[in-house]
Amino acid sequence: MFRRSLLSAAAAFAAAGAAPGIARASVPVRWDGKLAPPLNNADAFVQWAVRNRGEDPEQLRRRWERYQAAVASKDILDDRNRTAFLMTPREHFVLRQNLARSYEHNFLDIGYGVTISGPHLVARMTQVIDVQPGDKILEIGTGSGYQSAYLAYLAQRIFTIEIIQPLAERTRGIYERLVGQGYVEYGAISTRNSDGYHGWEEEAPFDKIIVTCGIDHIPPPLLRQLRNGGTMVIPVGPPGAQRVLKVVKEVGADGTVRATRSDIYGGRIVPFVPFTKLEGGVIKGTHNK
Ligand SMILES: C[S@@+](CC[C@H](N)C(=O)[O-])C[C@H]1O[C@@H](n2cnc3c(N)ncnc32)[C@H](O)[C@@H]1O
Repeated sequence: MFRRSLLSAAAAFAAAGAAPGIARASVPVRWDGKLAPPLNNADAFVQWAVRNRGEDPEQLRRRWERYQAAVASKDILDDRNRTAFLMTPREHFVLRQNLARSYEHNFLDIGYGVTISGPHLVARMTQVIDVQPGDKILEIGTGSGYQSAYLAYLAQRIFTIEIIQPLAERTRGIYERLVGQGYVEYGAISTRNSDGYHGWEEEAPFDKIIVTCGIDHIPPPLLRQLRNGGTMVIPVGPPGAQRVLKVVKEVGADGTVRATRSDIYGGRIVPFVPFTKLEGGVIKGTHNK
């Protein structure tokens, strides 16, 4: 298991100047929590992002198209989430061979038998947990890193766990490279390679938890690590046929815990990568009961 914070990479970058081994900055204007991309005009957005973020206009056009579709389908509802969608460069989190497909509606293969969730799904799952700037967030299933990158535009404390060690290491390397290029906001993300069923005890409680792999029940450790009044979003159901639930935790005066559930897609089935299990350091089966 490894656990590392990217803050040190961000600090190293800030101090480094032209230090060897640290990528040169290519992001002209850094994220400071206040950068505001144009939200209502495609040309204005693309010009703004080329100038301020040094990003590729072709990818920016694709990002805008997908953004418009996500707004139209009500996967994104407010300006903070609109900004997060438009700021997150999904093209850095897909495989090279899928670059032209970065903003397609569906999930894409990212190797190791797992996928990056589709952009609408990421947008909706993020929107429903209503992330606030001071929130501490836990993600189970780092995968490509896109979901936590997206969260970095909404909050400053993000913890993410991935069970597949080489994938966890690859994604951590992507964050480090991007921090080196000037995406300093990814310094807010702490990564860990472990079995997310058990959560991240030392950092609990969390205001919000987002689970991106499917399971047939709500893991009790995750519910315990959610603060009173906190919200979790989690795909629950049999293999390949989950429903995405929003779960709100309330602890009564007598200590009883209530988990109020609602289906964020009104009953639609959304298949997810399985919530697998680590046994003796080896991934074996799933946590389904
Ligand atoms: C749909 S994919 C990744 C989505 C990811 N959030 C993204 O932005 O790309 C789900 C991820 O959950 C991981 N996963 C499955 N079981 C896990 C567990 N017990 N603990 C942590 N991660 C797990 C998978 O390896 C996979 O990378």
